[in-house]
Amino acid sequence: MEAPLHPAERERIVALRSYGILDTPREEEFDDIVRVVSAICETPITVINLIDQGRQWFKAEVGLGVRETPLPASICAHAILQPGLLIVPDTLDDPRFSDNPLVVGDPHLRFYAGALLETDEGLPLGTLCVLDYKPRQLNDSQKDLLQLMANQIMKLFELRRKNAEERTARQTDRRRAEEAARDSEQRYRLVRTELAHANRLAAMGQLTASIAHEINQPIGAAIAYANAALSWLQAQPPNWEEVRQALGFIVESGVRAGEVIDRIRTLVKKAPPQKDRVDINEAILEVLALIRTEITKNVVSAKTQLAEDLPPVWGDRVQLQQVILNLFINAIEAMSGMDDGSRELLISTEKAHSDAVLVMVRDSGPGFSPESAERLFESFYTTKSGGLGIGLSICHSIIEAHGGRLWATASLPRGAVFQFTLLAFSSGGG
Ligand SMILES: Nc1ncnc2c1ncn2[C@@H]1O[C@H](COP(=O)(O)OP(=O)(O)OP(=O)(O)O)[C@@H](O)[C@H]1O
Ligand SMILES: [Mg+2]
Repeated sequence: MEAPLHPAERERIVALRSYGILDTPREEEFDDIVRVVSAICETPITVINLIDQGRQWFKAEVGLGVRETPLPASICAHAILQPGLLIVPDTLDDPRFSDNPLVVGDPHLRFYAGALLETDEGLPLGTLCVLDYKPRQLNDSQKDLLQLMANQIMKLFELRRKNAEERTARQTDRRRAEEAARDSEQRYRLVRTELAHANRLAAMGQLTASIAHEINQPIGAAIAYANAALSWLQAQPPNWEEVRQALGFIVESGVRAGEVIDRIRTLVKKAPPQKDRVDINEAILEVLALIRTEITKNVVSAKTQLAEDLPPVWGDRVQLQQVILNLFINAIEAMSGMDDGSRELLISTEKAHSDAVLVMVRDSGPGFSPESAERLFESFYTTKSGGLGIGLSICHSIIEAHGGRLWATASLPRGAVFQFTLLAFSSGGG
């Protein structure tokens, strides 16, 4: 008679699979157990039998010589339906087994005793069983031993599962750490590119003089040629050939000036903005990390006051970092000129009214005069010998393109405060 399925068959199979034991090679510790059990129970056959779907699979066996057989002929499939030991003194006397092909045919199994291999949740995975070719019994100590060894096997199974789980957990951890490292590496590379961009701007500041010279030169030449042309026109008769030549030179000079401008444009050109959700605190910390050496070099003490409950903002992370970077660099530059007084840089974030975030950069530098306050954001307004005067105007247009506002005020007792707002991601284009 074929055994019905266990009432919790699905859970039972899930549990069985979770041990990762099915179809593994033979192992000494399990082989030893079946050998010892066989010796003590005095049975020719002992099996650690796991009842899988459609088959029974043997983790260890003596006396059988196979590692799996089809389920319909399984005696253990009956054993797992009841608690405790199943002892069948004579299989031919039991209607469940009297027609079993392994009983009526080869190898003519007549005696069976099986102890459950049961999980902590009470799900039977299979049995540790002993079999014989003749009807018989087990004495009490043999029965005890069978149950004891079954419990021992379950402990080995549990240990194995725990090890496997720890291994997977370790692998997952490692994978996560690698992913995180890759992620931040990527972001850092991005910010570094941006820093390079800012450096390029700074380098441009130093280049201003030579750029001015390069533009002045063709313009000066054009003026000279134009004056020459005017005088050739006034000649009697006008010298058309000279005029034609002068006009040709003027065109050339104009083209040259245009080329110089183009070159500057390529220098400051950037990839198109990509608006996404940005964690502004994280973006700020990254920029800070990148200018750490600049901060130390200028003996500036940098502090942060970043609100923890900030919503993500809507924006192009790289552009926003460029704004932050420009404000930092301006603040550091302003303070580096001071002979006395502490150099303090404070960056703070807070939730502003109705779905907006406010970012504030405060320094303890000399601040700016009321006249220059009006002009700070103008292109090419600078009070620095090496400045280009485009930092703040770039910041201004970036923040405006993000639907925010950037403004400057005096800090008390001294210094400057630059503040800008950004839309929360939920209220922005996102
Ligand atoms: N934190 C600050 N404290 C005092 N003055 C400042 C501060 N930030 C900016 N300014 C003033 O605003 C001017 C314009 O700044 P902006 O960043 O646009 O140009 P820059 O720093 O002079 O040159 P660059 O184009 O290299 O940035 C500065 O030259 C300076 O006079
Ligand atoms: Mg600047």
